Amino acid sequence: MITSHKAHGLILPYPLQGHINPMLQFSKRLQFKRVEITIALTKSVLKKMKELPSSVSIQAISDGYDDGGIDQAKTYEAYLTRFKEVGLDTLSQLIQKLANSGCPVNCIVYDPFLHWAVEVAKKFGLISAAFFTQNCAVDNIYYHVHKGVIKLTPSKNDEEILIPGLSCTIEMMANQFSNLDKVDWVLINSFYELEKEVIDWMSKIYPIKTIGPTIPSMYLDKRLHDDKEYGLSIFKPMTNECLNWLNHQPISSVVYVSFGSLAKLEAEQMEELAWGLKNSNNNFLWVVRSTEEPKLPKNFLEELTSEKGLVVSWCPQLQVLEHESIGCFLTHCGWNSTLEAISLGVPMVTMPQWTDQPTNAKFVKDVWEIGVRAKQDEKGIVRREIIEECIKLVMEEEKGKLIRENAKKWKEMARNVVDEGGSSDKNIEEFVSKLVTIS
Ligand code: UDX
Repeated sequence: MITSHKAHGLILPYPLQGHINPMLQFSKRLQFKRVEITIALTKSVLKKMKELPSSVSIQAISDGYDDGGIDQAKTYEAYLTRFKEVGLDTLSQLIQKLANSGCPVNCIVYDPFLHWAVEVAKKFGLISAAFFTQNCAVDNIYYHVHKGVIKLTPSKNDEEILIPGLSCTIEMMANQFSNLDKVDWVLINSFYELEKEVIDWMSKIYPIKTIGPTIPSMYLDKRLHDDKEYGLSIFKPMTNECLNWLNHQPISSVVYVSFGSLAKLEAEQMEELAWGLKNSNNNFLWVVRSTEEPKLPKNFLEELTSEKGLVVSWCPQLQVLEHESIGCFLTHCGWNSTLEAISLGVPMVTMPQWTDQPTNAKFVKDVWEIGVRAKQDEKGIVRREIIEECIKLVMEEEKGKLIRENAKKWKEMARNVVDEGGSSDKNIEEFVSKLVTIS
């Protein structure tokens, strides 16, 4: 017999901002389609956050490091091992608690770094869905590493390849595929039109559904009333300073620069970037996190006039990218930043650093043709002349026209896919139908 229930999804993100926020945005889409949502966050993350999202219900769980979270663990491996040991119990207790309070969950959506969540889902007879925060092309690389088809090694060996930036974290990335043959759904924070070929290929192996871009609805289809809330941030954005400054800049004149929440640049790279920006004809808004600020060249901030540029420790990135004064985004190509730039139609100058970023940059330049790549020299540094040249190409030159036009097309596409009947909307709809109809 088929009966209808109020569907209730328990969302388990990996406790980092770049993983929590896309899952939060996805949760809001599920809520919009009348699924009840509880997000399980670790106690240490909850302690760090000054403001919690008001749109969803949040419950605390333990990762075994309640004071400091990941920062308290010696290594990623140690963190993940402990989280698994403690998490199996603490997640089970939460599921029990929700059932006792009359709101049983019928599904776990988990970050595949926490693949043990599938065991908990099976124990309680719940639907399980892995949520990959990165795009399908990158997941495909990790899949091939997981299968042993690609072997990565820091040493130079004929039979094995070294992908710069990947070797240190590769085991953790490849382990995301553990338990994946047991899940009901594999959700990917991307959209079909962006990477059809790879999605079609991966869909033959796993029940893949793309559900992105995970950007608040007010920046896209505007169907979720008043939905501008971006989510958690461990840094405080300098919103007024940024928007006031941008309001005084001409249309499409500003280079926005950010390397996300984690990347650490070499001091030499910071210096080249600083001069590259200063020498370019365009004004710039540069996010330099406070831990990175000491690497700025001597007297750079003192000599910077407010006409030329603004340096802030953190900004409201979506509001910035949406601002009409922005002409291009110089980015490390973290997947969230890339998706945000695509969704808001901002062309990119890419300076990828590690993990998925070089692959994202490759797609930006060669597949979607919405940016250029600022190439490093043999020392691994992108020089000031290259930075200046790339900015000019994307912002001003005839050669950059196609890039600017393509960016506008992808913006339109990003809105369409989450709007009613778009590819991601249909996938979310299908997922929700499965949740509400339980035999
Ligand atoms: C990391 C990895 O670097 C990335 O490659 C991976 O895909 C996810 O985890 P991070 O480096 O922080 O994340 O980059 P990114 O994924 O781009 O996320 C940064 C987020 O911070 C974006 O959502 C962006 O909007 C936000 N941000 C950044 C701000 O809100 N303000 C800022 O000033 C800078």
